[in-house]
Amino acid sequence: MNKALSPDQRADIVAQQMTLDEKIQMVHGTGWGVLRAGDPVPAKSNFAAGYMEGIERLGIPGIDLADSAVGARMAAYQARYATLLPSTLGAASSWDTDSAFLYGSVIGRELRAWGTNMSIGGGVNITREPRNGRNFEYAGEDPILAGTLTGNLEKGVFSQHVMSDIKHYALNDQETGRTVVNVLLGKKAMRESDLLAFEVSIGIAEPSAVMCSYNLVEGDHACENDYLLNEVLKKDFKFKGWVVSDWGATHSTVKSALNGLDQEMPGDENYFNAPLKKAVEGGQVPEARLNDMVHRILRSMFAAGVVDDPPIRSVVDPFRGRDDAQHIAEESIVLLKNADHILPLKASASNSIAIIGSHADVGVLSGGGSAQVDAPGGNAANPKPGGSGWTEHVYFPSSPLKNIQSHSPQTSVRYADGMDTAAAVALAKSSAIAIVFVSQPMQEDMDAVTIALPGNQNALVEAVAAANPNTIVVIENGGPVSMPWVDHVKGVVEMWYPGIGGAQALANILFGNVNPSGKLPVTFAKDDAQLPNPVVPGLEGLPATEPTQYHKVAPFDLRYTEGAKVGYKYFEATHKQPLFPFGFGLSYTTYAYSGLTVDDTKRTVHFTVRNTGPHEGTEIAQVYVALPAAANESYKRLSAWQRVKLAPGESKEVTLPLHPLSLTVFNTDQNGWQLLPGDYTVTAGPSSSDNPLKATLHVHP
Ligand code: BGC
Repeated sequence: MNKALSPDQRADIVAQQMTLDEKIQMVHGTGWGVLRAGDPVPAKSNFAAGYMEGIERLGIPGIDLADSAVGARMAAYQARYATLLPSTLGAASSWDTDSAFLYGSVIGRELRAWGTNMSIGGGVNITREPRNGRNFEYAGEDPILAGTLTGNLEKGVFSQHVMSDIKHYALNDQETGRTVVNVLLGKKAMRESDLLAFEVSIGIAEPSAVMCSYNLVEGDHACENDYLLNEVLKKDFKFKGWVVSDWGATHSTVKSALNGLDQEMPGDENYFNAPLKKAVEGGQVPEARLNDMVHRILRSMFAAGVVDDPPIRSVVDPFRGRDDAQHIAEESIVLLKNADHILPLKASASNSIAIIGSHADVGVLSGGGSAQVDAPGGNAANPKPGGSGWTEHVYFPSSPLKNIQSHSPQTSVRYADGMDTAAAVALAKSSAIAIVFVSQPMQEDMDAVTIALPGNQNALVEAVAAANPNTIVVIENGGPVSMPWVDHVKGVVEMWYPGIGGAQALANILFGNVNPSGKLPVTFAKDDAQLPNPVVPGLEGLPATEPTQYHKVAPFDLRYTEGAKVGYKYFEATHKQPLFPFGFGLSYTTYAYSGLTVDDTKRTVHFTVRNTGPHEGTEIAQVYVALPAAANESYKRLSAWQRVKLAPGESKEVTLPLHPLSLTVFNTDQNGWQLLPGDYTVTAGPSSSDNPLKATLHVHP
């Protein structure tokens, strides 16, 4: 308990006292517990997804590994409360590191109040497959943006003395076939895309753990993959924490132990229980390797403070959580279209508003799977006691209808559920403005078969738009969707899964109390045909309307031929025009950019942003670089960004460092990053496809 010693020294002191059995006890969980009905729940556990038994005689607490991608999971199990935050993808639209820190601190704060000492959220898989059912748990398609935001999120978790992890390492970019797919990408492309997101995140946060994923990479399962775990994660990224398997993703004892896995979860597959003890005793796994596993776990516990300052149960403050969630949602909402300045809405008695579809009378949609947070009072669209079913579409009690009405008490605000198109059209015809809510439910275990909205929603939007020229569409989605009706509506508001403060945030945006500032962290393609894989790999030949569970697919190789060209890089390299580009988002005001200069020595950029419109606003200014010809890249990379808050008429000068890893290529022969000499084209502006300023960075040999 000597806090003057480092976490590593303290870990060693404890480990020296441990018996072989105690060491083995640390490197596996105690079974599926609450996750599987009827399974035993360990007495000292705190009802999380996984539990590692502590070593009581040495003062080492157990570890509760709690799912908490978008808020703490399984609140209903113990009549607790958890704040539902906006989806991680939604929150990434803020490009705001402070907001990401706040996001993590809400999760940490509430887990701590539950008496839980570890969050297993922190998803950072990039949006390589836009139909991936889990994209809402991740931070978008750009590795530097996603890694930076997730790193700050984890720091927020830490600020509450709760351990964190990042997942799913690596290349678990789709759910279809997730346990059998063998992903082939090659080292260079891997390091410059998916692995880069982890590298950036780990560099910022030093997370307690990294969760290895279900899939195979270049022939080996991720949880027994020497290259991924030993070579890249532990050697190159200098990761000091422990590698925890995804649930049931361990496939061997000796191979996993030697290739870098440190802890098996949830444990009842028992590769790291008696078989590991035998392998250590028989010398197939050196005891030093077991000691390393234990050291990594213990040092992370000391580093996060869960030994010195263990969580003490208290009551979650739902109002503080709601306010934080609403703040993040207000930064997350992206205004995609605003023809004729239909927004902001005016509060007036002469107005009448039709609200149509997606249970907008009662709530907002949330993401499913192991990221599902339990809704207080049950599913607002289908109330019943207890938690929700795995494939249920759960709505949280944050009513767009009520919040729009309360912003404009004299306006007639009426609702149609959208199931009956004729009724929706009739309501739209008799209203001045029609707001159609459309939704795309997504969850772990299954991908969307298409980026098209499910069900009859596209037809509903077309019908309403034909009946009312002042139609606005609000989208609640887990990932990019297509919008065949986009030219027929006046407004499009992207609100993702907005969390428990979502309707309040939306109403503030719609009425102009908050000026939208979010920008897309993913490219929106026009249709599936524009994507590198027009059909989700593994779903070829299956009916195009049914979501398909991952386990129904036979083993297959998946070569990502686009390489490191994910999202906007792919669109630029292949000269395709997306529906909405990466980095795009409108505001109620306008901005102008001027005076870009580049400092070759410091590798910084300098420019000015001015608010040229009538409202205060925050512009997310973006800087991209295109590498010299020797890099042989036909696309540019995001290098820096800044949120710039500006009063009407105000100008601010911005100086930003170019991200060092946005300038380098990965050299596989040297196994390292290489800065190529030559001219780098630097651009600055409001999105990836709008770059009014251009300058050159000269890198001399
Ligand atoms: C998911 C993980 C999750 C774990 C425990 C797995 O199915 O892939 O993200 O943390 O279950 O619930």
